[in-house]
Amino acid sequence: MPEEKPWWILVGGMRRLGRAIAEELAQDHALVLTGSQDAEAEWLKDLAIRTSLRTFRWDAMDPELDHQMMADLAGLETTGIRLTGAVIVAGVFPEQPLGTWTMGKLETIWRVNMSFPMFCAQALAPRLADDSCLQFLLDTCIHQPFLKRLPYSAAKSGLAALVPGLAQLLAPRLRVVGHAIGTALPDETSDPEWLASLSLVKRNGNPADVARSLRFASESPYLTGEIITLDGGRRWI
Ligand SMILES: NC(=O)c1ccc[n+]([C@@H]2O[C@H](COP(=O)([O-])OP(=O)(O)OC[C@H]3O[C@@H](n4cnc5c(N)ncnc54)[C@H](OP(=O)(O)O)[C@@H]3O)[C@@H](O)[C@H]2O)c1
Repeated sequence: MPEEKPWWILVGGMRRLGRAIAEELAQDHALVLTGSQDAEAEWLKDLAIRTSLRTFRWDAMDPELDHQMMADLAGLETTGIRLTGAVIVAGVFPEQPLGTWTMGKLETIWRVNMSFPMFCAQALAPRLADDSCLQFLLDTCIHQPFLKRLPYSAAKSGLAALVPGLAQLLAPRLRVVGHAIGTALPDETSDPEWLASLSLVKRNGNPADVARSLRFASESPYLTGEIITLDGGRRWI
């Protein structure tokens, strides 16, 4: 019988960068993907041909999120699935210049970019197999904040502060690693050439770069509590 692929969960793994990372990992991982909205059915069908797949609807804004998560994770265990890796991808990236902030907007950005990842970490940690790695997608803005996106930058910096603390709380059973990414998948409103010019290597990253970093962290048993900056040297410009 072929060896079963290790099961990883990607929180926010059904859209854009999360989806592209899922595509990269599918060759050697079985996947649990979460999203706040239904993903494109055709894509999920194709992915399910390539690997074992489960999907959950986890919406950071859902007041019943706690119960939903617990039920979904308990359900996984009853079907004999043991998670050996978790990647928290979910986040929102709105432009919010000073002067446009409202309590409501700020609360939403903390919720999706910080509270939700922390809450997922708390729910997932006890469910992960021994020696698993819990990983967070951060942003190079933790080194140099994006001034038009200061609330986003502050939320990602808060999450970055979680990494060493959580690593201490969960050691030695689990490891915790963050990835401070430059541009891996520009959105349609940004100029990829300009973004590339902001890096030392004069190119943007891509989902394969991120997947390589996630694999590296997962396969490095001496690495924990650290943030890997994967931004083509942008932080040094
Ligand atoms: N793209 C890049 O080049 C880049 C660079 C640096 C850092 N990052 C980080 O990488 C992550 C993914 O980036 P992206 O560009 O793919 O961002 P994105 O297009 O904004 O996608 C965000 C992800 O977060 C999920 N999400 C949004 N609101 C949610 C909610 N209320 N509840 C649960 N999940 C929610 C989305 O899932 P649903 O659509 O299902 O809601 C989606 O999977 C983010 O954390 C971002 O900060 C990305």
